[in-house]
Amino acid sequence: MERPPLVLVDCDTGVDDALAILYLAADPQVEILAVGTVDGNVAAELGAENSLRALEVAGRPTVPVAIGARAPLLQESRHAEHFHGQDGLGDSHLPPPGGRPTDEGAVEQMLRLARSRPGEVSLLALGPLTNVALALGVEPRLPELLREVVIMGGAVACPGNQSPWAEFNIAHDPEAAEMVLRARWRRCTLVGLDVTGEAILEPAGHQRLGGSVAAEFASRILAQQMRTNHRFELCDPLAAAILVDRSLATFQRLPVSVDLDGRHTRGATVADRRTTLAPTEEEARPAVEIAMAVAADRFLAEFSRRLGSYG
Ligand code: RIB
Ligand code: CA
Repeated sequence: MERPPLVLVDCDTGVDDALAILYLAADPQVEILAVGTVDGNVAAELGAENSLRALEVAGRPTVPVAIGARAPLLQESRHAEHFHGQDGLGDSHLPPPGGRPTDEGAVEQMLRLARSRPGEVSLLALGPLTNVALALGVEPRLPELLREVVIMGGAVACPGNQSPWAEFNIAHDPEAAEMVLRARWRRCTLVGLDVTGEAILEPAGHQRLGGSVAAEFASRILAQQMRTNHRFELCDPLAAAILVDRSLATFQRLPVSVDLDGRHTRGATVADRRTTLAPTEEEARPAVEIAMAVAADRFLAEFSRRLGSYG
């Protein structure tokens, strides 16, 4: 078992981002160094407020939360309130958090932590990759300074959820995702819809949540989706779980490009499966670890165990 990670979370706190924070914070061996928010499910400011709410119910009120990019690099922002609710937390109308975001920006926070603890910090990216791309532009050494990056995003061998081909985090800022997936990280792991489609919380699992402030919080922010869709895909919590325990998944190491020009396919994550033809110089890029299979039952049991472990 690898040593427990020091984790920097970059997210767009919506419902599953909040659940991922609870998943990580339940682990006494994981140190959440900080959270940065990015425009995605909701505006970055609201994502920060929701991240503070999740950290406070998880007993981690001192973890700093910094606001990052308020828009994608190029395209117009399209939030996902239709899915995550107007408040980003399932229209649960929770009281405001006690804390407030730091004055530092999320990109500055990411660079400060990476430079101050070279090779030690694991970046868990649960939203669009705008902050990560901006940080790469400021600090080209970022891939060597971070221990690894785990990204919730993409749909390599399955349909998208934002379009027939593209997953939301990638589709929200394809230019940023292309910059990130082209970089030479020490290790880059892609946890996409190929595996999150197996990580489904059913109503019975939702009904078992409770018994603590954190579990009640999780139950409340999930209630709207359970009422309307009777299921919830635990995308971000699965990415957090794989960061903590890679044995939950099996991976394919392949270079991945992001389509930027397709009328129907913009934002698609395209893996290069060629084994004979060498890529051209333009096509050449490092392989990323694509999660292609997951021990879904073991993950779901661990998800419930962790949420139940809060006093
Ligand atoms: O496609 C699912 C991803 O997009 C999740 O991270 C969800 O929170 C949204 O950001
Ligand atoms: Ca997210």
